[in-house]
Amino acid sequence: MGRVLVTGGAGYIGSHVMVVLGRKGYRCVCLDNFSNSSPRAVERAQVLAPGAIEAVEADIRDTEALRRVLAGADISSVIHLAGLKAVGESVEKPALYRDNNVRGTQCLLEALAGSGVRTFVFSSSATVYGNATAMPIGEDAPTAPASPYGENKLEIERMLAKLAGEDPSWRVASLRYFNPVGAHESGTIGEHPSGTPNNLMPYVCQAAAGLRGPLRVFGTDYPTPDGTGIRDYIHVMDLAEGHMAALTALPLTPPGTVMTVNLGTGMGHSVLEVVDTFERVNGVKVPRELAGRRPGDVPICYADCSRARQLLRWSSRRTLEDMCRDAWRWQVLNPAGY
Ligand code: NAD
Ligand code: UFG
Repeated sequence: MGRVLVTGGAGYIGSHVMVVLGRKGYRCVCLDNFSNSSPRAVERAQVLAPGAIEAVEADIRDTEALRRVLAGADISSVIHLAGLKAVGESVEKPALYRDNNVRGTQCLLEALAGSGVRTFVFSSSATVYGNATAMPIGEDAPTAPASPYGENKLEIERMLAKLAGEDPSWRVASLRYFNPVGAHESGTIGEHPSGTPNNLMPYVCQAAAGLRGPLRVFGTDYPTPDGTGIRDYIHVMDLAEGHMAALTALPLTPPGTVMTVNLGTGMGHSVLEVVDTFERVNGVKVPRELAGRRPGDVPICYADCSRARQLLRWSSRRTLEDMCRDAWRWQVLNPAGY
């Protein structure tokens, strides 16, 4: 079995993916430019999966560097996570996002074209569905991304589908993540956004630790049981296992397969449910205040996960309690991140 090239492997999700793969006997080459991560994340992943992870510092837009890696590293598949992911920043800097995310993927594919590697797993996002109204969201729901970031994801999905359509030696899985949260149960790898966290769980952790002001609960008048927004939170370790399931499933599919698969739990939880669960399982207070709706937020978003069960033989196992416990353990052990 050849190695798995994990682009963006030093990031939040990539570090967990490498640990899951490494502990199951896969060997990984982590390729990252550390634009939004720390080499320490890789070092810690190496401790959790001894002997399984090699690190290369490079940019996915550097086709020559990619070719060098592909020439010497016995790679047989790719998990492509490298990308910029801040929705708000993508609105301010659409050209940067297109260059890094879309052109970056083109460069990666160009380098792969000259290698024998034809198995490709891509990090897509539920953000491609935009303001979906019918729940749960199935993969065939209309796509309507509401930000340049979301448009990048959809463009890359289409680029991959076209590639496999023209050259059936490719096998591709585009995985549409819902809301990844939590951390490895050891508390040694996790999520540490730079600056003030935009996302709910990292903000809850930092507010509970007294590092931030009260959590602002954005919107209390949504058409949901408690009036706050509902999302499909998925434990990052479940998500990581979903990637392994995709890597296992793809080689067994017919040539030219392109699968687009939601990775979520299929369950929605409201903001207040998350905060109350966090307080209960961790025995801490999360100072909070009620605030107006955040522009661009949808009221409810959760996945139909039947395709993942059917095609990947995968479904999430961990509960909201697990997500809250593991997120807090990471926060307590690493108050300043890496
Ligand atoms: P992250 O920022 O922690 O990880 C991304 C990694 O990619 C970072 O280590 C960064 O340094 C690296 N990177 C960025 N541009 C690069 C480049 N040009 N060359 C090499 N490395 C580069 O983010 P994450 O949360 O781990 O997300 C990983 C992937 O999953 C991203 O593609 C993201 O869009 C996607 N995704 C994330 C979420 C989420 O909520 N976290 C949801 C849906 C999809
Ligand atoms: N929320 C608060 N207060 C905060 C932060 C968030 O009340 O300080 C609420 C939001 O209003 C929303 C819920 O918590 O109702 C979840 O918000 P997040 O920002 O954590 O997540 P989003 O669903 O808005 O977006 C995330 C990623 C996107 C991705 C999307 C779908 O940030 O990149 O999930 O996968 F596209």
